[in-house]
Amino acid sequence: MKTIRSVRFMQRVSRQLATSGKKIGLVPTMGYLHDGHLSLIKRALKQCDIVITTIFVNPTQFAPHEDLDAYPRDERKDLAKIKETGGQIVFIPKADDIYQPDFQTYVLVEKLTKTLEGEARPTHFRGVTTVVAKLFNICRPDISVFGMKDFQQAVVLKQMARDLNYPIKMIVAPTVREKDGLAMSSRNKYFNESQRQEALCLYRALKTAREMVRAGMTKTTKIRREMRSVVQATCPTAKIDYIAFTDSKTLQPVSDVTVQKTVCSLAVWVHNVRLIDNLKLS
Ligand code: PAF
Repeated sequence: MKTIRSVRFMQRVSRQLATSGKKIGLVPTMGYLHDGHLSLIKRALKQCDIVITTIFVNPTQFAPHEDLDAYPRDERKDLAKIKETGGQIVFIPKADDIYQPDFQTYVLVEKLTKTLEGEARPTHFRGVTTVVAKLFNICRPDISVFGMKDFQQAVVLKQMARDLNYPIKMIVAPTVREKDGLAMSSRNKYFNESQRQEALCLYRALKTAREMVRAGMTKTTKIRREMRSVVQATCPTAKIDYIAFTDSKTLQPVSDVTVQKTVCSLAVWVHNVRLIDNLKLS
């Protein structure tokens, strides 16, 4: 396995790989890898000759009051996990190599970034699309794999790839969960055991939604009300940012889940950690 830290060298390697006809897969990450990330690498390996995993805690997607400095990092463990999974190249650029001091060009997907996470974190997606566009330009992948856990991010990035004519197949892989249903996330590391139990409030609420839909309840106002009580019962101090029912492609609100393909997403503050999760309902 090769570790590359320079943007120019990474560009040279990906150009050589493309010229020699290798199919390149890209898995962008911010490191502190868990099984969810490794499932993305495995997915890419199924379809590619070479998988490039990137580790970069991207400063432009964090607002000044967010956890950029505290974001967990463990490069040594990450490298061991990627190697064991079979990834061939790891790209770990420095922030000032990605963003030169006079940097001033951003990529913005306009409409899809105004709802859900975009409302709570208005500058977040501009940072995500900018860095992923840069990683596409540097690594020249044929396919790129993202997780359904960040559902809106996947929809936004697919739109960006289409709008900017990237010849890249965008794959969205299922969310990987712990045995009890907690969605894997690098931020779960912030919890002690009892807080972690309370973090289950998101998955329990989503499961309730799914059960209600299966039982024939399709009106989102009623489902949302029930989900709120499940969140509060599991984590009495939780602060719900949103519980949303949206069309899976346009991200526009849905009032009846049988009318469009609907994804239920929620963001909840659990002991000062903001968690997100989602489930397809129809
Ligand atoms: O999902 C993430 O970890 C990040 O948003 C991404 C896609 C690696 C961009 O920094």
